Amino acid sequence: MADQVRVGFVGCGGNARGHMQQVAANPAARIVAVCDISAEAAQAAAGQFSAQPFTNHRVMLDAAQLDAVYISVPPFAHGEIELDVLDRGLPFFVEKPVALSLELAQRIAARVRSTNALTCVGYQLRYTAAARATKAFLADKVVGMAVGRYWCPSGRGSSWLQQWAKSGGQVVEQATHTIDMMRFLCGEITEVYCLQANRTLKTIDCPDHNVLALKFASGAIGSLTTCWAFEGWDGNVVDIFFDRYRIGWNAGTPSITPACEAFQVDQALGTAIDQVFIEAVRTGDRSGILTPYEEGMRSLAVSLAANASARSGQPKRVGGP
Ligand SMILES: NC(=O)c1ccc[n+]([C@@H]2O[C@H](COP(=O)([O-])OP(=O)(O)OC[C@H]3O[C@@H](n4cnc5c(N)ncnc54)[C@H](O)[C@@H]3O)[C@@H](O)[C@H]2O)c1
Repeated sequence: MADQVRVGFVGCGGNARGHMQQVAANPAARIVAVCDISAEAAQAAAGQFSAQPFTNHRVMLDAAQLDAVYISVPPFAHGEIELDVLDRGLPFFVEKPVALSLELAQRIAARVRSTNALTCVGYQLRYTAAARATKAFLADKVVGMAVGRYWCPSGRGSSWLQQWAKSGGQVVEQATHTIDMMRFLCGEITEVYCLQANRTLKTIDCPDHNVLALKFASGAIGSLTTCWAFEGWDGNVVDIFFDRYRIGWNAGTPSITPACEAFQVDQALGTAIDQVFIEAVRTGDRSGILTPYEEGMRSLAVSLAANASARSGQPKRVGGP
């Protein structure tokens, strides 16, 4: 069991900085190396966390004697990094979405399986007390319908995020959190029919509105609506209908209507994803990891099926051609 997990980062952007803060605050871990293709970003992170800066992930992997790697790069940059990390037998934490194509995610997943690598995908909502309590409560219930939404202004920027070829659009890049939560709480999604429109943000090449109709393996049905033009934030919310009840799920304090004493959320049950990952690497005990690579791939498959459905005008089986 390692006393202190030696962590390296690939990608030093906005999201990585959040993970760096968490890792730096964890006495069981130390950030020893950081890498970004932007030397400026690597230098800035290295300075802040007293780590060694790199601009090439292979050079970092070969030089830094790491115990674990965080990969927080934009969706289009996945692939070589994961495969190089796996080649060196290292565990990794990777941000969602895990790739832009199912083929690539399947290739990485196959290598994760064959090397029995410890992995964790950044779907942190699963680790909240709200998600854990709701999942446990729904375990013996018959869900009829799940209705999710992700409405926000993120389409209004001008970075890789708003470029279809680099992010895959809102359903792949962002609403993947809501899809992942719907899968976690209500089971696998098997079929998607999706309508997409660009009505407001004429300067971007992505849809700014998406409507998905969903079929679950259980027989439940659902929907997900997303908006990228809304000057407000109402996302990662799922209304789950079962029996005569509705759980209004969110990551903080979900509600149930009509009132039901049996549904309680003990906030002490929540864990921070970074702490779970570091502890799993330190001890070798993976039981706390709720989001191994395979789960990230399955959530990606739903988003990709939605995009494919919108393109073809036909419903798509998840994971199908
Ligand atoms: N889990 C969450 O809630 C959450 C929140 C925000 C972002 N994210 C995810 O984190 C990822 C990064 O997002 P961000 O907001 O930090 O983006 P960002 O643009 O701020 O940072 C990405 C960084 O990666 C670097 N990079 C690109 N290719 C690289 C490569 N091959 N090697 C090394 N560095 C490389 C870029 O130079 C940039 O500094 C995205 O996948 C995003 O979806 C997740």
